[in-house]
Amino acid sequence: MQVKDRTFLITGAASGLGAATAERLVNAGANVVLCDMSDRVLNLAEQLGAQAKACVADITSAADMQQAVNTAVALGGESGLSGVVHCAGVVSVAKLVDREGNPADLDSYARTVHINLVGTFNVMRLAAAAMANNPPGDSGERGVIINTASIAAFDGQVGQCAYSASKAGVVGMSLPAARELSRHAIRVMAIAPGVFETPMMSEIPDEAAQALAAAVPFPKRLGKPEEFALLAEQIITNPMLNGEVIRLDGGIRMQ
Ligand SMILES: NC(=O)c1ccc[n+]([C@@H]2O[C@H](COP(=O)([O-])OP(=O)(O)OC[C@H]3O[C@@H](n4cnc5c(N)ncnc54)[C@H](O)[C@@H]3O)[C@@H](O)[C@H]2O)c1
Repeated sequence: MQVKDRTFLITGAASGLGAATAERLVNAGANVVLCDMSDRVLNLAEQLGAQAKACVADITSAADMQQAVNTAVALGGESGLSGVVHCAGVVSVAKLVDREGNPADLDSYARTVHINLVGTFNVMRLAAAAMANNPPGDSGERGVIINTASIAAFDGQVGQCAYSASKAGVVGMSLPAARELSRHAIRVMAIAPGVFETPMMSEIPDEAAQALAAAVPFPKRLGKPEEFALLAEQIITNPMLNGEVIRLDGGIRMQ
């Protein structure tokens, strides 16, 4: 699918991977709706200019996300909403049993799964319903959905039960969603980033960040949000990418 003159909905666009993706797609000539629960998207959209619109929305809310999808469909005009890059998510760390022997908090587990997994399903279902109405493009394609998993879906570390489960759920939905939506000519992909330099990771101490960077075979550093955006653009433009999860991690395998 071409990027230029098409319209994309980017969730989590106030920060990190989503913000970088919005900027890259605008620079490539796309229209974007920057969606986030943080009102920072209002400023970011203004900075990106006439091709960008903002929508403050919670990805777990049916009404909020329907409004975000409607905004993107309207912005897209005749071609409608062409794709979604869904980056909104949260990280959480909690041991099943802490040092004092207390069990993990159940509400906190459910919150992570609700935002990262149920939120992803909410974004996918509403975007897919809108894109199914698109006129087919030159190659017959109607839309593309790119979700954000994590290498924690495969190499979860101690304390990541909730986060790993939520991202493994995102991985698990990719193939059945791609199979189902193939009849509408909509592709579904997921990116599983390693460790990227974003505000989400800024809370980890310097020493831990250095150790993580050293554990990457090559390049020995954290990923840059622009590198995530580059892959998102490639997925949009390459029609053979479908039903797959791509690790973007410099070869790191978490211990
Ligand atoms: N940074 C990394 O190293 C890394 C690694 C693997 C996966 N990921 C995943 O990539 C995605 C983006 O992460 P990031 O590093 O850019 O993080 P980030 O914290 O910089 O950005 C996440 C954005 O999501 C938004 N958000 C959170 N909950 C929301 C909700 N309910 N509704 C709407 N918006 C919401 C936040 O406001 C924030 O702007 C996340 O799904 C994260 O789990 C990140």
